[in-house]
Amino acid sequence: MARNQHAVIWTRLSGEPEKMGDLLLSADQASFTYREDYISSGQAGFCLLGDASIWGADTVVYPVSERIAVFPRMLSLIPGANPRNLQRRHYLDLLKARLGKEPPRGQETEWQLLLMGGHGGIGHIDIFPDDISAEQWYRSRASLNDDPGAAKRSGKRSQLWRMLKREVLDENLDFDPQQIEQVLGPTPSVGGMISKLLVSVTPTGKTPVFYAPGVSNKKSVVLKVEPPEYKGMLDLEALCLDIHEESGFEVPWHKRLDDEDLHFLAVERFDRSAEGLPVPMESLFSVIATGDHKFRETGDMFLEELGGKLDRLSQVANLAPDTNEQLYRRILMALLTGNGDLHLDNVSLLGGLADCRLSPIYDPAPMRAWPRHDLVSAIPYNPEGYADRGAIFVEFGSSFGLSDRQTQECIHDALAATSSYAERVDALDRVPGRQRQQLIEIVRQERLLLEKYVTSQ
Ligand SMILES: Nc1ncnc2c1ncn2[C@@H]1O[C@H](COP(=O)(O)OP(=O)(O)OP(=O)(O)O)[C@@H](O)[C@H]1O
Ligand SMILES: [Mg+2]
Repeated sequence: MARNQHAVIWTRLSGEPEKMGDLLLSADQASFTYREDYISSGQAGFCLLGDASIWGADTVVYPVSERIAVFPRMLSLIPGANPRNLQRRHYLDLLKARLGKEPPRGQETEWQLLLMGGHGGIGHIDIFPDDISAEQWYRSRASLNDDPGAAKRSGKRSQLWRMLKREVLDENLDFDPQQIEQVLGPTPSVGGMISKLLVSVTPTGKTPVFYAPGVSNKKSVVLKVEPPEYKGMLDLEALCLDIHEESGFEVPWHKRLDDEDLHFLAVERFDRSAEGLPVPMESLFSVIATGDHKFRETGDMFLEELGGKLDRLSQVANLAPDTNEQLYRRILMALLTGNGDLHLDNVSLLGGLADCRLSPIYDPAPMRAWPRHDLVSAIPYNPEGYADRGAIFVEFGSSFGLSDRQTQECIHDALAATSSYAERVDALDRVPGRQRQQLIEIVRQERLLLEKYVTSQ
């Protein structure tokens, strides 16, 4: 990208939209400078390690690379490069209409995608090309709230359905991207592999009715759309959410929904307060990458280093004291449910530096049911010197600073929480038999390995 790019960051943290500061992107560096008023307001910064209580009036800088081309916190505001990503396709269509030609691949287009979809997404920061666009956008959001029927009316729902069917099910249907924009106003980017939308739903009823995100008296949800090549995935994900919930983890309200050939999982957003205000949310990936400029992808760190990273974070952040233990418990649950996809974007922190805690559980889908995702852990670990996997996962307890007794307690609880898991997987009719059998066999083996190291309590 030849020229420096400029954008602005705003937030609604206080209830009223206000500007946080200015964002600049050059070929080798991203930089952000807070407005003085924002610094003195004492509110959370744009990311944990870029907080104004650390940087003050100094410009926050990050050396960009091809892999991380903006501040790490902003990656989740750019639609994923997955060919089926709804937002990416939708914004590229809009961009194409604006440019009158196919948008070129590369950093320039990624930046445009950030400006188009980087507001109203997960967390508390909203990115715009300039202040006037920000003001206009907040005004149009407020008017959506005055007219909550908008999303349902006049065939626009069918436009949304056409879009979903074309993009997710590959059906050959045309739709008008401008109309989708009017319905969902526009649909903000959400990270992750599978197609999803941020919408509001009424919690009752089997057939989904969607409204624009943030409409009052409705539940704001992340709506995941099941890809046809992963039939039954959302049933498995819902089961794993239930199992976590039953054993005391914090789990958002969720509901499986079906409409003709489309299958959904609606999960209530926990990055919004009961009053609908945004709550800061940042993935561990983003926190670690912001602090360590050599860290560019999940594989750049070993699982056994994670506890130490959180200890270091707690030197600057007021991190809930049981964070390490809770994370270890999540890792054990992932092992025993066949979720090899617990990567560093699937764990997030909620709140600012002053009150930082693990977010509720999300995305616990047991992806090991599908042969090409049959990986024990997306975060690598070093197996050298251990007798087997059971021994490694027991040892992780101490890497999270837990005593042997605490580690044993966590293992006990995880085994108890998942004791009927295989039966419950087997009862899910929509999941193909092959996937059920593979998953059941995987979790049987993982249990056996871990049980070898359980001491009686
Ligand atoms: N209930 C929720 N509240 C707030 N944010 C959420 C919620 N669920 C998911 N998210 C955010 O949306 C992102 C994508 O969701 P999720 O991880 O469920 O999708 P995915 O496509 O299955 O991801 P992956 O690529 O890891 O398979 C998450 O990384 C998180 O930032
Ligand atoms: Mg995910």
